[in-house]
Amino acid sequence: MNRRVAALLVAAILVSSCAESDPLPADPGPETAAPPPSTTTLVTTTTTTTAPPVPLSDATTRLGLGDSRYPELGNGGYDVAHYTVDLTFDPEHDMLSALVSIDATATEPVDTISLDFIGFDITAVKVDNESVDFDRSNGKLNVRLPAVVAAGDSFVIAIAYTGTPQAVPSQALPFEVGWRTDAAGIRYVVAEPDGGRSWLPLNDHPSDKATYTFLITVPEPLVAAANGTLQERITDLGWSTWVWESTDPMASYLATVVIGEIEIVVDEASSAESGVAVRNVLPADLATALPIPLERQGEMIEFFAKLFGSYPFDSYGIAVVGDFEAALENQTLSIFGRSVVEFPAFFETVLVHELAHQWFGNSVTPADWGDIWLNEGFATYAEWLWLEHTRGRAAYEATIGGERNRLTLAADLQPPGDPLAEDLFSVSVYVWGGLTLHALRVEIGDDAFFETLQTYYATYENSIATTADFIAIAEAVSGSDLSALFDQWLYSEVVPELPSTAG
Ligand code: TRP
Ligand code: ZN
Repeated sequence: MNRRVAALLVAAILVSSCAESDPLPADPGPETAAPPPSTTTLVTTTTTTTAPPVPLSDATTRLGLGDSRYPELGNGGYDVAHYTVDLTFDPEHDMLSALVSIDATATEPVDTISLDFIGFDITAVKVDNESVDFDRSNGKLNVRLPAVVAAGDSFVIAIAYTGTPQAVPSQALPFEVGWRTDAAGIRYVVAEPDGGRSWLPLNDHPSDKATYTFLITVPEPLVAAANGTLQERITDLGWSTWVWESTDPMASYLATVVIGEIEIVVDEASSAESGVAVRNVLPADLATALPIPLERQGEMIEFFAKLFGSYPFDSYGIAVVGDFEAALENQTLSIFGRSVVEFPAFFETVLVHELAHQWFGNSVTPADWGDIWLNEGFATYAEWLWLEHTRGRAAYEATIGGERNRLTLAADLQPPGDPLAEDLFSVSVYVWGGLTLHALRVEIGDDAFFETLQTYYATYENSIATTADFIAIAEAVSGSDLSALFDQWLYSEVVPELPSTAG
């Protein structure tokens, strides 16, 4: 097997700046073990009030965006355009000190807005550079704006906070999501669907996508990776600030950082093959010997770009962490548990799955968590398309049949179009959801089926979509009424029989 690996260590691809261009204030140096302050300093002001403050949560704050599964997630009244996430992380003391600035626009007249946020000590909140009142309740940070903001007007909220980040229980999954630490001390964020608020104040709902700038300061020689493209690394007195830019809109559940003794390894062959900058974030042993079949990512990107439309973002790659049995499609930087990487056949399938999410889930994002089959059913079906491509039609058919049987054996299946909030990532959402696309393909034929996928992606890229949006495109492209097919496959209590492909 050809294992040409163009592995360049971070040093080779980075510009290490000199002191003159360094925006960091002088810091006490590593001997005191104190991290430098955030790149931008937010002055804390203490206000003395005589009257007891009126709780902001009694004011005009709105509890949630009304998601069908998680009604309390996200907040109304505004729309975020950009997050600037300036973090300093001191691994020795497990301490994060953060300044998050949020560029937002009011969608109606507002005097108070809420953000999703859990934990930490908040040291200051400013709106357009002015200190403002805030309080916290029910997982929300409520911020009083200095004056009523008219619909369409923009404002900047800056929140400074410190503390030890912690993963949080998820309503959807049996494990904790958000900021996690592996046995080797690697820190990484896996937030889907409700863990974003464990590390950042956010409008934590997929319907409010935004762009992001990450400035992550860590002690040398640690590396900090985040979504998007590495702009520069600024080094000063033993600390490095890694600047990553995500210029395409991203849902809050896909934001991530990975911090640790890791290497950014450029895959030149995959980059050349796909036209996308492919870089992986790996521990030293995997960086020197790429795990099979990681080097096929360029070929996989090419394959899906032909089927769905061009790859949505500027870069792609995976980060491998320990103590994690799963994988998550964080935008441009999927995170893989080491146990997934260790079984090449399984690894290949999961590589394909997380890559396919970059189109379906990340670029086209569900408007509501109840539409999760638009992510997981599509990524599962993409696994079968790759199988058909690499092993042939018989292997595809055999897998479809085997997966249909697997569903028969599963107990208490909820139909994929109506998932339970406490079991959002169920076998039904993945497999029954994937088989729904197979049934659609048989019904309308290959030409209309692939045109439907392409039109759906082209129509909703960098945006959000609902199940009804997808059905409308399938009906327009095929010219058929597909309501019976989708009713049966997405919403009925029993798993439908597979359509016959013979006729
Ligand atoms: N979306 C993931 C997948 O590709 C599953 C998942 C959801 C997940 N939330 C997670 C994995 C949190 C790890 C951590 O199927
Ligand atoms: Zn998935």
